[in-house]
Amino acid sequence: MESNDKTTTRQRWVVGNWKQHLLRAEADTLGRELIAGLSPELIDRDDSVRIGIAPTFVALESTRPWTRPAGPLWLFAQNVAAQESGAFTGEVGPAMLLDAGAGGAIIGHSERRKHYSEDDGLIASKVRGALDAGLRVILCVGEPLEVRQAGDHESHVISQLSAALSHLTPEHFTDRLLLAYEPVWAIGTGVAATPADAAAMHRRIRGWMEEHYSRPGADRSILYGGSVKPGNAGELIAAGDIDGFLVGGASLRAESFLSIIQSAATE
Ligand code: 13P
Repeated sequence: MESNDKTTTRQRWVVGNWKQHLLRAEADTLGRELIAGLSPELIDRDDSVRIGIAPTFVALESTRPWTRPAGPLWLFAQNVAAQESGAFTGEVGPAMLLDAGAGGAIIGHSERRKHYSEDDGLIASKVRGALDAGLRVILCVGEPLEVRQAGDHESHVISQLSAALSHLTPEHFTDRLLLAYEPVWAIGTGVAATPADAAAMHRRIRGWMEEHYSRPGADRSILYGGSVKPGNAGELIAAGDIDGFLVGGASLRAESFLSIIQSAATE
Protein backbone atom coordinates (compact mmCIF):
# COMPACT_ATOMS: atom_id res chain seq x y z
CA MET A 1 0.00 0.00 0.00
CA GLU A 2 1.36 3.40 -0.95
CA SER A 3 0.88 6.60 0.97
CA ASN A 4 1.62 10.08 -0.29
CA ASP A 5 1.09 11.76 3.03
CA LYS A 6 3.84 14.20 3.97
CA THR A 7 2.86 14.79 7.57
CA THR A 8 3.66 11.49 9.22
CA THR A 9 6.79 12.43 11.10
CA ARG A 10 6.79 10.67 14.43
CA GLN A 11 5.64 12.94 17.22
CA ARG A 12 6.06 12.48 20.95
CA TRP A 13 2.79 12.34 22.90
CA VAL A 14 1.73 11.88 26.52
CA VAL A 15 -2.00 11.31 26.91
CA GLY A 16 -3.87 10.87 30.19
CA ASN A 17 -6.72 8.37 30.01
CA TRP A 18 -8.94 9.35 32.92
CA LYS A 19 -11.19 6.29 32.43
CA GLN A 20 -14.39 6.36 34.52
CA HIS A 21 -13.00 8.81 37.05
CA LEU A 22 -13.56 12.46 38.03
CA LEU A 23 -16.78 14.42 38.27
CA ARG A 24 -16.82 17.58 36.18
CA ALA A 25 -15.65 19.80 39.06
CA GLU A 26 -12.76 17.40 39.71
CA ALA A 27 -11.85 17.34 36.03
CA ASP A 28 -11.93 21.10 36.08
CA THR A 29 -9.55 21.20 39.06
CA LEU A 30 -7.13 18.73 37.51
CA GLY A 31 -7.15 20.69 34.24
CA ARG A 32 -6.28 23.89 36.13
CA GLU A 33 -3.49 22.16 38.04
CA LEU A 34 -2.01 20.76 34.85
CA ILE A 35 -1.98 24.10 33.12
CA ALA A 36 -0.49 25.79 36.17
CA GLY A 37 2.26 23.16 36.35
CA LEU A 38 3.24 23.05 32.69
CA SER A 39 6.38 24.98 31.95
CA PRO A 40 5.96 27.68 29.29
CA GLU A 41 8.63 25.99 27.14
CA LEU A 42 6.56 22.83 27.00
CA ILE A 43 3.43 24.74 26.11
CA ASP A 44 5.19 26.75 23.42
CA ARG A 45 7.15 23.84 21.99
CA ASP A 46 4.45 21.62 20.64
CA ASP A 47 7.10 19.77 18.65
CA SER A 48 8.76 18.57 21.85
CA VAL A 49 5.82 16.67 23.33
CA ARG A 50 2.10 16.94 22.78
CA ILE A 51 0.01 16.56 25.90
CA GLY A 52 -3.47 15.08 25.74
CA ILE A 53 -6.25 14.27 28.16
CA ALA A 54 -9.14 11.85 27.70
CA PRO A 55 -11.94 12.63 30.19
CA THR A 56 -15.34 10.96 30.23
CA PHE A 57 -17.81 12.10 27.56
CA VAL A 58 -19.68 14.29 30.04
CA ALA A 59 -16.50 16.10 31.14
CA LEU A 60 -15.35 16.95 27.61
CA GLU A 61 -17.09 20.32 27.72
CA SER A 62 -15.72 21.30 31.12
CA THR A 63 -12.12 20.71 30.06
CA ARG A 64 -12.51 22.88 26.97
CA PRO A 65 -10.80 26.00 28.36
CA TRP A 66 -7.50 24.06 28.60
CA THR A 67 -7.80 22.16 25.38
CA ARG A 68 -7.25 23.15 21.79
CA PRO A 69 -7.81 25.56 20.23
CA ALA A 70 -8.31 27.66 23.40
CA GLY A 71 -5.60 25.97 25.47
CA PRO A 72 -2.48 23.84 25.01
CA LEU A 73 -3.88 20.37 25.78
CA TRP A 74 -5.20 18.00 23.12
CA LEU A 75 -8.64 16.61 23.94
CA PHE A 76 -9.54 12.97 23.32
CA ALA A 77 -12.64 10.91 24.03
CA GLN A 78 -12.18 7.41 25.44
CA ASN A 79 -14.42 5.79 22.85
CA VAL A 80 -16.47 6.61 19.78
CA ALA A 81 -19.34 4.96 17.94
CA ALA A 82 -18.70 3.17 14.67
CA GLN A 83 -21.77 4.83 13.14
CA GLU A 84 -22.14 8.49 12.23
CA SER A 85 -25.56 8.80 13.90
CA GLY A 86 -28.87 6.99 14.17
CA ALA A 87 -30.86 4.68 16.42
CA PHE A 88 -27.91 3.48 18.52
CA THR A 89 -28.92 4.05 22.13
CA GLY A 90 -26.04 5.02 24.37
CA GLU A 91 -23.55 5.72 21.60
CA VAL A 92 -21.71 8.96 20.76
CA GLY A 93 -20.65 9.51 17.17
CA PRO A 94 -17.55 11.19 15.72
CA ALA A 95 -19.32 14.43 14.75
CA MET A 96 -20.70 14.73 18.29
CA LEU A 97 -17.20 14.44 19.71
CA LEU A 98 -15.90 17.12 17.39
CA ASP A 99 -18.89 19.26 18.34
CA ALA A 100 -18.05 18.82 22.05
CA GLY A 101 -14.46 19.92 21.44
CA ALA A 102 -12.65 16.58 21.25
CA GLY A 103 -10.16 16.30 18.40
CA GLY A 104 -9.59 12.59 18.80
CA ALA A 105 -10.65 9.31 20.36
CA ILE A 106 -9.03 6.28 21.94
CA ILE A 107 -10.22 3.15 20.12
CA GLY A 108 -9.78 -0.52 20.98
CA HIS A 109 -8.71 -0.12 24.60
CA SER A 110 -8.44 -3.54 26.24
CA GLU A 111 -11.07 -2.55 28.80
CA ARG A 112 -13.55 -2.04 25.98
CA ARG A 113 -12.48 -5.27 24.29
CA LYS A 114 -12.88 -7.17 27.57
CA HIS A 115 -15.87 -5.61 29.36
CA TYR A 116 -17.91 -4.58 26.30
CA SER A 117 -16.93 -7.39 23.93
CA GLU A 118 -15.56 -5.06 21.28
CA ASP A 119 -14.10 -7.28 18.60
CA ASP A 120 -11.63 -6.62 15.80
CA GLY A 121 -14.40 -5.98 13.26
CA LEU A 122 -16.09 -3.33 15.35
CA ILE A 123 -12.76 -1.70 16.17
CA ALA A 124 -11.84 -1.59 12.46
CA SER A 125 -15.16 0.16 11.71
CA LYS A 126 -14.59 2.66 14.51
CA VAL A 127 -11.08 3.47 13.31
CA ARG A 128 -12.30 4.06 9.77
CA GLY A 129 -15.33 6.12 10.83
CA ALA A 130 -13.34 8.29 13.22
CA LEU A 131 -10.59 9.04 10.69
CA ASP A 132 -13.15 9.76 7.97
CA ALA A 133 -14.85 12.26 10.27
CA GLY A 134 -11.56 14.07 10.91
CA LEU A 135 -10.78 12.77 14.37
CA ARG A 136 -7.34 11.79 15.58
CA VAL A 137 -7.25 8.13 16.64
CA ILE A 138 -5.19 6.35 19.29
CA LEU A 139 -5.58 2.70 18.36
CA CYS A 140 -4.76 0.38 21.29
CA VAL A 141 -3.38 -3.12 20.95
CA GLY A 142 -1.91 -5.45 23.55
CA GLU A 143 -1.80 -9.04 24.71
CA PRO A 144 -3.25 -10.65 27.86
CA LEU A 145 -0.93 -12.36 30.33
CA GLU A 146 -1.58 -15.92 29.18
CA VAL A 147 -0.70 -14.96 25.61
CA ARG A 148 2.60 -13.48 26.72
CA GLN A 149 3.34 -16.51 28.87
CA ALA A 150 2.72 -18.74 25.86
CA GLY A 151 5.16 -16.62 23.84
CA ASP A 152 2.50 -15.58 21.33
CA HIS A 153 2.45 -11.88 22.18
CA GLU A 154 3.91 -10.60 18.92
CA SER A 155 1.54 -12.53 16.68
CA HIS A 156 -1.40 -11.55 18.90
CA VAL A 157 -0.60 -7.85 18.67
CA ILE A 158 0.09 -7.97 14.93
CA SER A 159 -3.20 -9.75 14.37
CA GLN A 160 -5.08 -7.04 16.32
CA LEU A 161 -3.25 -4.35 14.36
CA SER A 162 -3.80 -5.91 10.99
CA ALA A 163 -7.54 -6.32 11.66
CA ALA A 164 -7.99 -2.80 13.01
CA LEU A 165 -6.31 -1.22 9.98
CA SER A 166 -8.00 -3.46 7.44
CA HIS A 167 -10.69 -0.93 6.40
CA LEU A 168 -8.22 1.87 5.72
CA THR A 169 -6.93 3.26 2.44
CA PRO A 170 -3.58 5.06 1.92
CA GLU A 171 -5.23 8.43 2.55
CA HIS A 172 -5.96 7.45 6.14
CA PHE A 173 -2.29 7.11 7.04
CA THR A 174 -1.66 10.65 8.21
CA ASP A 175 -0.37 11.92 11.53
CA ARG A 176 -3.92 11.60 12.85
CA LEU A 177 -3.43 7.85 13.26
CA LEU A 178 -1.48 6.94 16.40
CA LEU A 179 -0.86 3.50 17.87
CA ALA A 180 -0.60 2.49 21.52
CA TYR A 181 0.89 -0.76 22.78
CA GLU A 182 -0.77 -1.57 26.10
CA PRO A 183 -0.05 -5.07 27.41
CA VAL A 184 -3.18 -6.05 29.33
CA TRP A 185 -1.19 -7.52 32.22
CA ALA A 186 0.53 -4.16 32.79
CA ILE A 187 -2.64 -2.06 32.96
CA GLY A 188 -3.46 -0.93 36.49
CA THR A 189 -1.23 -3.60 38.02
CA GLY A 190 1.77 -1.49 38.95
CA VAL A 191 3.91 -3.86 36.86
CA ALA A 192 4.97 -2.11 33.66
CA ALA A 193 6.63 -3.91 30.78
CA THR A 194 10.40 -3.69 31.07
CA PRO A 195 11.87 -1.02 28.79
CA ALA A 196 13.49 -3.80 26.74
CA ASP A 197 10.22 -5.74 26.31
CA ALA A 198 8.22 -2.63 25.50
CA ALA A 199 10.81 -1.39 23.01
CA ALA A 200 10.98 -4.85 21.39
CA MET A 201 7.23 -4.84 20.78
CA HIS A 202 7.34 -1.30 19.42
CA ARG A 203 10.07 -2.36 16.98
CA ARG A 204 7.99 -5.36 15.95
CA ILE A 205 4.96 -3.14 15.32
CA ARG A 206 7.04 -0.64 13.37
CA GLY A 207 8.67 -3.41 11.37
CA TRP A 208 5.30 -4.89 10.48
CA MET A 209 3.99 -1.47 9.47
CA GLU A 210 6.99 -0.97 7.21
CA GLU A 211 6.46 -4.36 5.57
CA HIS A 212 2.82 -3.56 4.85
CA TYR A 213 2.67 0.16 4.30
CA SER A 214 5.32 2.21 2.57
CA ARG A 215 6.86 5.20 4.31
CA PRO A 216 5.82 7.67 5.48
CA GLY A 217 2.52 5.86 5.96
CA ALA A 218 4.23 3.30 8.16
CA ASP A 219 5.86 5.92 10.31
CA ARG A 220 3.34 6.05 13.16
CA SER A 221 3.84 7.47 16.64
CA ILE A 222 3.64 4.43 18.92
CA LEU A 223 2.83 5.11 22.57
CA TYR A 224 3.34 2.71 25.46
CA GLY A 225 0.67 2.25 28.16
CA GLY A 226 0.52 0.12 31.29
CA SER A 227 1.60 1.26 34.78
CA VAL A 228 3.61 4.22 33.51
CA LYS A 229 4.75 6.19 36.55
CA PRO A 230 7.20 9.02 37.30
CA GLY A 231 9.65 6.33 38.39
CA ASN A 232 9.72 4.39 35.11
CA ALA A 233 8.81 6.94 32.39
CA GLY A 234 12.40 8.07 31.85
CA GLU A 235 13.82 4.59 31.39
CA LEU A 236 10.97 3.57 29.08
CA ILE A 237 11.54 6.56 26.81
CA ALA A 238 15.30 6.05 26.96
CA ALA A 239 14.87 2.52 25.57
CA GLY A 240 14.10 4.13 22.20
CA ASP A 241 11.28 3.18 19.80
CA ILE A 242 8.71 4.48 22.32
CA ASP A 243 7.15 7.77 21.22
CA GLY A 244 5.35 8.60 24.45
CA PHE A 245 2.75 7.26 26.83
CA LEU A 246 -0.91 6.55 27.37
CA VAL A 247 -1.24 6.96 31.13
CA GLY A 248 -4.08 5.75 33.33
CA GLY A 249 -3.80 5.98 37.13
CA ALA A 250 -0.83 8.33 37.22
CA SER A 251 -2.66 10.85 35.03
CA LEU A 252 -5.26 11.47 37.74
CA ARG A 253 -2.83 13.51 39.83
CA ALA A 254 -1.24 16.60 38.31
CA GLU A 255 2.08 16.02 40.05
CA SER A 256 2.66 12.51 38.69
CA PHE A 257 1.31 13.31 35.21
CA LEU A 258 3.52 16.41 34.94
CA SER A 259 6.54 14.41 36.00
CA ILE A 260 5.85 11.82 33.27
CA ILE A 261 5.43 14.60 30.71
CA GLN A 262 8.75 16.09 31.79
CA SER A 263 10.49 12.72 31.32
CA ALA A 264 8.99 12.34 27.86
CA ALA A 265 10.08 15.85 26.90
CA THR A 266 13.63 15.67 28.12
CA GLU A 267 14.83 12.16 27.28
P1 13P B 1 -2.52 2.47 34.03
O1 13P B 1 -1.54 3.58 33.72
O2 13P B 1 -3.41 2.79 35.20
O3 13P B 1 -1.85 1.14 34.13
O4 13P B 1 -3.53 2.39 32.77
C1 13P B 1 -3.00 2.36 31.49
C2 13P B 1 -4.10 2.51 30.51
O5 13P B 1 -4.98 1.68 30.42
C3 13P B 1 -4.09 3.72 29.68
O6 13P B 1 -5.02 3.64 28.65
